[in-house]
Amino acid sequence: MKLWLDTDPGFDDWMAWALIESMPEMQLLGVSVVAGNAPLRQTLSNALRIKSLHGWTTAVHAGSEGPLSQAQVTAQDVLGDHAMATIERPLPAASAVLASTDAVLALSEALRSNPGEITVLAIGPLTHLAQLLAQSPQAAKQIRQLVIMGGSTDRGNATPAAEFNFLADAQAAHQVFESGVDIRMFGLNVCRQVLVGHEHVARLRATGSNKAHIFADHLAAYVNIAARRQAAYMSVYDPTPVAWLANPQWFNLQPARVDIELQGRWTTGMSVCELRVPDKALPNAQVAMTAQGPEIMAWMMRQLEQVLTCHR
Ligand code: RIB
Ligand code: CA
Repeated sequence: MKLWLDTDPGFDDWMAWALIESMPEMQLLGVSVVAGNAPLRQTLSNALRIKSLHGWTTAVHAGSEGPLSQAQVTAQDVLGDHAMATIERPLPAASAVLASTDAVLALSEALRSNPGEITVLAIGPLTHLAQLLAQSPQAAKQIRQLVIMGGSTDRGNATPAAEFNFLADAQAAHQVFESGVDIRMFGLNVCRQVLVGHEHVARLRATGSNKAHIFADHLAAYVNIAARRQAAYMSVYDPTPVAWLANPQWFNLQPARVDIELQGRWTTGMSVCELRVPDKALPNAQVAMTAQGPEIMAWMMRQLEQVLTCHR
């Protein structure tokens, strides 16, 4: 499967990227980095540090400094200034360098060279996808499918109504869902069925490599986000659509009409999901509704043990 990753690292982005790299059947053609969890300078630094730590070779492209039109919001209040909280070891300095500073151009060139073959996985704000679709409307047909971590069929996280990626660039999310591209949406509703806890941290740390300790220190800090809310387990966001790419049998998706709220005083960025299609509206997305969480987490652990075991 030919894949392109659009991301705003963040720890769960790192976990998603690692799962992709753990699968030889995934041909990752490029990684485009967008502002989101933190400003672009920080998400870029995180991406190059992650690539260097693992010795991955996928080209990393820098993209947008911020959303299409609204004021920038980040998740640093939850994830820390670097959007990469750790209980001890930080990501080491990067040795990897950027392939380009025009992520949208890089993605459009990949699509032109592989028309109809590339699955684009977007796990940050949809700024780049909106820019691409505005610049070249034919891109909607060149994208085999657009798999999105974002939105929710019920409550939000960044606000009571909105999920962070859609809130961070609501206009971009609106333009993407209006574009006609073939969308698979993995919202908070389904990601909350995939849970990670400290037993998973211990298991990955036990693989023993230096990078396993660094990854486990970051995973522990990620799980601690839930602990601050008196919960033992944290939802797994960005890795969940990666699990679907590899194991669709563990998920149930259904057609829906998804509209993005742009004006609501309390609801801006909300993904309003009409599931009564086609009676009430024509569908514009397939939306994930259920996931077999235990099977998915067991798979994730096996894959991550592989990635973290190779000693370096
Ligand atoms: O709401 C979860 C999303 O926001 C994830 O992509 C996480 O990385 C943050 O960007
Ligand atoms: Ca993300």
